Amino acid sequence: MKILVTVASRHGSTREIATLIAGLIEDAGLEADVRDPDDIMSLAGYDAAVIGSGVYMGRWLDPARRLIERCHGEFSGRRVWLFSCGPLGEPATPDRAPADVAAMRVATGAIDHRVFPGRLVKSELGRGERVVVAGVHAPYGDYRPWDDIMTWARGIADALRTVDLAATLDIPVAEPVGT
Ligand SMILES: Cc1cc2nc3c(=O)[nH]c(=O)nc-3n(C[C@H](O)[C@H](O)[C@H](O)COP(=O)(O)O)c2cc1C
Repeated sequence: MKILVTVASRHGSTREIATLIAGLIEDAGLEADVRDPDDIMSLAGYDAAVIGSGVYMGRWLDPARRLIERCHGEFSGRRVWLFSCGPLGEPATPDRAPADVAAMRVATGAIDHRVFPGRLVKSELGRGERVVVAGVHAPYGDYRPWDDIMTWARGIADALRTVDLAATLDIPVAEPVGT
């Protein structure tokens, strides 16, 4: 079973989450392929996908949004998990999901969507970004909840391993939503 792990990331923090998720999927004995969304023209060859994005101005980044548009006819029958990486501080703010995630969930039939707090490093930001960050008083720091991310990723791996085992034994399992 081959799982696509693909995220849109401007400054790398979402990509590091993707790498961790892929590693945990591989630890479960499944194959995980970490790819940039812009490199994916089709889901052919993948049995499932984990798709994520850093959040900017309340929305997902374009490469992740475009991937979902491009592959719109291919989600049916594939298990999909979504995540967003964005809120900052303790407690993490904002505490609402990005505006476009509801549409992404519908488009992909995703089993789950999680919002994970993100990371903000001043030296990585462009001048315009620093202005935006100062304007909303966003706090610098790394707020990513690695334990929560690992628990979520292991849940995905367990679910997929169950499907994989059932396929090997030819046992029918419930199809994901949207099929
Ligand atoms: C200019 C700018 C705007 C941002 N806007 C949001 C936002 O609207 N909502 C949010 O939750 N996080 C926002 N963030 C925080 C980022 O989502 C967070 O830093 C995330 O970890 C970035 O992911 P990346 O490193 O993969 O690009 C913003 C960060 C910057 C620099």
